[in-house]
Amino acid sequence: MAKVEELISTKDVAARVEALAKEIVADWPIADESGDRVVNMVAMLKGAFIFAADLARALSRQGAEVNIDFMTVKSYGKSTESSRKVKQVGPPPEDLDGRTVLLVDDILDTGHSLTYAQELLLATGAKAIKSCVLLNKQERREADIAADYVGFEIPNAFIVGYGLDYASRYRELPFVAKVLET
Ligand code: IMP
Ligand code: MG
Repeated sequence: MAKVEELISTKDVAARVEALAKEIVADWPIADESGDRVVNMVAMLKGAFIFAADLARALSRQGAEVNIDFMTVKSYGKSTESSRKVKQVGPPPEDLDGRTVLLVDDILDTGHSLTYAQELLLATGAKAIKSCVLLNKQERREADIAADYVGFEIPNAFIVGYGLDYASRYRELPFVAKVLET
């Protein structure tokens, strides 16, 4: 079993999620003549499921309506390769024609996954993409991409908790932690 050490507390995550929701709602376009602010969220499975659930409810507290959908992408090829290939698996997100999409992921690492997801959503008819990640490991970036909304800048460590896993474990931890040894 790996040893983990808390990096960002439950309380700090919650406060940051609330602040992100405020920022997003302030920026978000009004959807139609009804005056409603509708955020069309697409969350990346599996890692973003907890962040997306908390962010959706924070957006609601800020007065937005939230449509929630999901997509799953997988990297394939040798894990040591720097230019990784990514593919979409499972059901694609629906009904994004002409919409501005809030693309939500747990962590921006090399950037290949988010780059691929953005291109795919635009190719399937989304008008624009705004991306929101809880964590950014800037040091590891390979693709030319930056998220529009970032929860926390973090150092290059392997992260678990709050949805993120190590070998399918630790997603349920209520805080963000780093793996110390395996
Ligand atoms: P990227 O394509 O390298 O940016 O990878 C992004 C995906 O890799 C994230 O959505 C996570 O699922 C996973 N990932 C990257 N770094 C970590 C980490 O430190 N812990 C857990 N998962 C990670
Ligand atoms: Mg992921």
